[in-house]
Amino acid sequence: MTAPVDPTSTSAWSELEAHRASFAPDLRSWFADDPARAERLTLELADLHVDLSKNLVTDDILASLVRLAEETGVAERFAAMLEGAHINTTEDRAVLHTALRRPAGIQPAFIVDGQDVDADVHAVLGRIDAFAERVRSGDWTGVTGKRVTHVVNIGIGGSDLGPVMVYEALQPYADAGIEARFISNIDPTDLAQKVQGLDPETTLFIVASKTFTTLETLTNARLARDWLWTELEKRGAIEADDAARTGAVARHFIAVSTALDKVAEFGIDPENAFGFWDWVGGRYSVDSAIGTSLAIVLGPAAFRDLLAGFHAVDEHVRTTPLAQNVPVLMGLLNVWYTNFLGAQSHAVLPYAQQLHRFAAYLQQLTMESNGKSVRWDGSPVTTDTGEVFWGEPGTNGQHAFYQLIHQGTRLIPADFIAFANPAYSLHDGGRDVHGLFLANFLAQTKALAFGKTAAEVEAEGTTGALVAARTFAGNRPTTSIFAPALTPAVLGQLIALYEHIVFTQGVVWGINSFDQWGVELGKQLALQIAPAIEGDAAALDAQDASTKALLAYYRAHR
Ligand code: F6P
Repeated sequence: MTAPVDPTSTSAWSELEAHRASFAPDLRSWFADDPARAERLTLELADLHVDLSKNLVTDDILASLVRLAEETGVAERFAAMLEGAHINTTEDRAVLHTALRRPAGIQPAFIVDGQDVDADVHAVLGRIDAFAERVRSGDWTGVTGKRVTHVVNIGIGGSDLGPVMVYEALQPYADAGIEARFISNIDPTDLAQKVQGLDPETTLFIVASKTFTTLETLTNARLARDWLWTELEKRGAIEADDAARTGAVARHFIAVSTALDKVAEFGIDPENAFGFWDWVGGRYSVDSAIGTSLAIVLGPAAFRDLLAGFHAVDEHVRTTPLAQNVPVLMGLLNVWYTNFLGAQSHAVLPYAQQLHRFAAYLQQLTMESNGKSVRWDGSPVTTDTGEVFWGEPGTNGQHAFYQLIHQGTRLIPADFIAFANPAYSLHDGGRDVHGLFLANFLAQTKALAFGKTAAEVEAEGTTGALVAARTFAGNRPTTSIFAPALTPAVLGQLIALYEHIVFTQGVVWGINSFDQWGVELGKQLALQIAPAIEGDAAALDAQDASTKALLAYYRAHR
């Protein structure tokens, strides 16, 4: 195992500390004095046009950040990941989500741990394509011979957030008359509400779980199976016997998992199961068989376009020097804000209603990856790590939390994401509404960068205490990501961009971004507390005073 480099011991870190000591950000004069700033700091990444110029960096600071990447081995670590080295040290696994989107036919064969990775990936993709086409064409039917109208994905975390986010983002591509729904929460409300209005004869459930052991998913899968049987039996569509029930599951349940033995134990025919591999992390899995619901609803061609988008960014990362490498630069900017300027959170603000689940998706990607206090060799981190990622689409956010970003006391770097062409073109009295929408995106990034001085406020006739209240300090950093339209390929590019930003930050901090031990304790304790909920005296007695009192409250109110 290569030991992580302590970033604070590098000469780049000392340079950055020196920059900070004399740092006086002034985007107004930086732009005024340097007419080429916008052009120089705007980069193209496949279809993404990425404007970094409104960030709080000078060329010298950027150069020091790039040196930090060099000294901490970002390029070497990327290469190790792409080659299939076991960089997920705590689980002794390769990290190969990038292999999920490699085109077929690359020579020589890509063999990792004895597995022909490309061949295996494309074999599963081929099966998904074929299955998706059968469902879309009506060749695949439910137990009573009716075609599928609804696909319900049952999964949680990475087995849910990616598919939901992509489905919402690409709804205009859903062209087969099939609707998707997503059940994730073990709160019974989720399933109860999501099955409302479904026809059991035309519903296909996909149980999506990498491990096929996740409490929420297996509980919901059993509940969905019970619902299917009850509803089919109620209307006399199947007999109430084991053979009929098994037959119904075979037509209405498929599974996606790395644990195909457990899929079979659940009663799902292995023929109807799509596999992936332990080298795909849950939060990096939307481009694996976990995306089967997407291949069905959007079509195999759209799903392949999504993968091609991911791959374009992988190629950029692999072949572009650090100083022009967009995900690397964006990751380094995050390090600058987090470790040198005290930022604790990062906003992602899409100007696209279709991306309304993007921040939720990124929360798992970023925070489950880099919310760590130990490095990949088990030693403590030497710096602050993972920021809190959050966001909502514009313009809704403008009327909610932008006040704090503009005038609050905290530094909140923000990524703005926008598309030149809308999914739906509407006009308000002859005026293109999308143009008005984009004017807001441009106005916000401009206001955040350049603010409004007291003199400008006074020139508008404001006097007294109101002047301060109406003044905007500016120098609030933003990155603008623009693309022609929100297509499957562009969405793949956006997701891969953030995957590699996360990786860059993780390498600088010396973190293994691919494990998630922090989710385990709560899972263990829930299993210990469950018997106490049901009244088990010994389990109740084993709890601390606060938990005991909460359990008593629960039991008194049931
Ligand atoms: O508990 C966290 C987690 O392990 C995530 O990393 C993962 O995406 C999610 O649970 C779901 O896991 P699975 O796909 O194995 O059901």
